[in-house]
Amino acid sequence: MSEIGVRPTVMQVAREREDVVVGDEIVRHKFSSRVIHWMVALFFFTALLTGMPIWSPVFGWMAYFFGGLTVCRWLHPWAGIAFAVASLVMFVDWLAQMRFDEHDRHWNVIQYLRFSGAEDQEVGKYNAGQKGFFWAAMAMMLVLLLTGIVLWWSAYFSQPFRSVSILLHSLAFIGFFCAIVAHIYLGTAAEPGTFRSMTRGTVSKAWARLHHPRWFREVTGGKP
Ligand code: HEM
Repeated sequence: MSEIGVRPTVMQVAREREDVVVGDEIVRHKFSSRVIHWMVALFFFTALLTGMPIWSPVFGWMAYFFGGLTVCRWLHPWAGIAFAVASLVMFVDWLAQMRFDEHDRHWNVIQYLRFSGAEDQEVGKYNAGQKGFFWAAMAMMLVLLLTGIVLWWSAYFSQPFRSVSILLHSLAFIGFFCAIVAHIYLGTAAEPGTFRSMTRGTVSKAWARLHHPRWFREVTGGKP
């Protein structure tokens, strides 16, 4: 049968394109971006959960989920490398969209955290907080990677270098953990309708108009 005249479904469009309106939905994250994001999340949690039992005996019980501490000691650095590689791919994928612009200076985090629905009308596809999280995540990933390499091949580094690396690795992971808890909360319970942007790839027009008004105007061409 000829495909002429057959409209692609929203899921078909969301495989390759984003920032387009399809019926009542707007495609926010194309398929490849969603896969990259979930790879980052998978490797992050694998590195986190295998790293915690190595970090402190308090979390020793967690090692049993992976087959013991020996497995964790082997798996943790490789999960960390996979996390760094996936994060670099995500960095390249999102770099152009995460550059701060002049509107970001006026974004008010206090007003945002009130969740009053009175979002700044100039918020584009990502607000300044999301962009800040993106850059902070990349910075923390680099700290974890570099200090992790020192700890992995510790025999090649001096004692002071190793001590500083242990401290920075611990601080970066605690900071990252807190940031991810906030990120998951904001991406799920705090703003209903956000999570599906990372699963189905789409958001409702109402969601876009409320949380990212300028992006909504851009993708709809200003039409209500
Ligand atoms: C279960 C865990 C996670 C959930 C539920 C989750 C959820 C989400 C959602 C729904 C979005 C889209 C937000 C939007 O379109 O406005 C997003 C974006 C993003 N995610 Fe995650 N995510 C998780 C884990 C992670 C991890 C481990 C990282 C590690 C760096 C990460 C980094 C990002 C970044 C940089 C963005 C773009 C900026 C932002 O929207 O904050 N995510 N995430």
